[in-house]
Amino acid sequence: MNTAATTGLDLAGKVAVVTGATLRQLGVGIGGATARMMAGRGAKVVVADLEEDAAQALAEEIGAAGGEAIAQRLDLSDPGSIKALFERAVSAYGTVDILHNNAAAVLAKDTTLIDLEIDVWDAMFDINVRGYALASQHAVKLMLQNGGGAIVNTSSVSALGGDITRVAYGACKAAINALTIYTATQYGRQGIRCNAVCPGFTLSASAKGGITDNALEILGRHTLTPYLGTPEHLAEVVTFLASPAAAYITGQIISVDGGLLSHHPQTHDQLVAAGA
Ligand SMILES: NC(=O)c1ccc[n+]([C@@H]2O[C@H](COP(=O)([O-])OP(=O)(O)OC[C@H]3O[C@@H](n4cnc5c(N)ncnc54)[C@H](O)[C@@H]3O)[C@@H](O)[C@H]2O)c1
Repeated sequence: MNTAATTGLDLAGKVAVVTGATLRQLGVGIGGATARMMAGRGAKVVVADLEEDAAQALAEEIGAAGGEAIAQRLDLSDPGSIKALFERAVSAYGTVDILHNNAAAVLAKDTTLIDLEIDVWDAMFDINVRGYALASQHAVKLMLQNGGGAIVNTSSVSALGGDITRVAYGACKAAINALTIYTATQYGRQGIRCNAVCPGFTLSASAKGGITDNALEILGRHTLTPYLGTPEHLAEVVTFLASPAAAYITGQIISVDGGLLSHHPQTHDQLVAAGA
């Protein structure tokens, strides 16, 4: 059992597993920023991703900055690979206190309902839902031995508002929201908290690399904050939810979206201009 005393945002002595955590040429994503922040607050971090070299680069960067991290290749579609991740965490650091379930596959062929191929639906669910559930299962078993722990799942605003494409992605994220409340409900009394964050558009390395200026302008116009989100905005919330400072927060689905989904279409100015 990990007995290191922690208060507030301090994660000293805690062991965290963060999936989808890499450092690439364009920078970090949400998992990478979270791993950096958790290590900065004292956690020993296992960074895991399909792209092993990019995960290794992040672990080395954290180590060079004085933190503690190791990298592990993970394929969330493979139950054996998920098991190996938690075995590695235990052999390196003794247990797992925190899980940030964050990796995700976004397949180009995930489009509209009637165009969707069954293999694409199944592949998306294997990685983005079954993978999260299996990782949670391993983490919960270890946390039960420790007397508690915290899981934060990365969901999406795509679970809350429909889109003209990516129907499987949206359904996967809605399933992650359900997994979150069931995990919180079934293990809350044993000291395990589970919450989800729903990012709005976030300027992660991969999102930056794949978006047009026009799409950025549209997203900016529909976000209430005068800026778009960064991986660090998400990492702040995830790290808080994983910390003792959030001891009374569980079973929550928290949008971190700059208010993207919290308003009507903004027609007021146009109506006034039209004399309405
Ligand atoms: N960036 C956004 O605008 C945004 C918005 C809403 C939700 N999200 C969610 O945030 C999370 C992180 O996304 P990000 O934007 O930081 O991008 P990211 O590319 O940094 O993170 C996703 C990671 O998942 C990894 N991955 C893909 N398939 C995998 C597999 N089978 N096994 C293990 N790892 C695998 C990728 O290699 C990648 O490193 C995802 O769950 C994503 O759905 C992002």
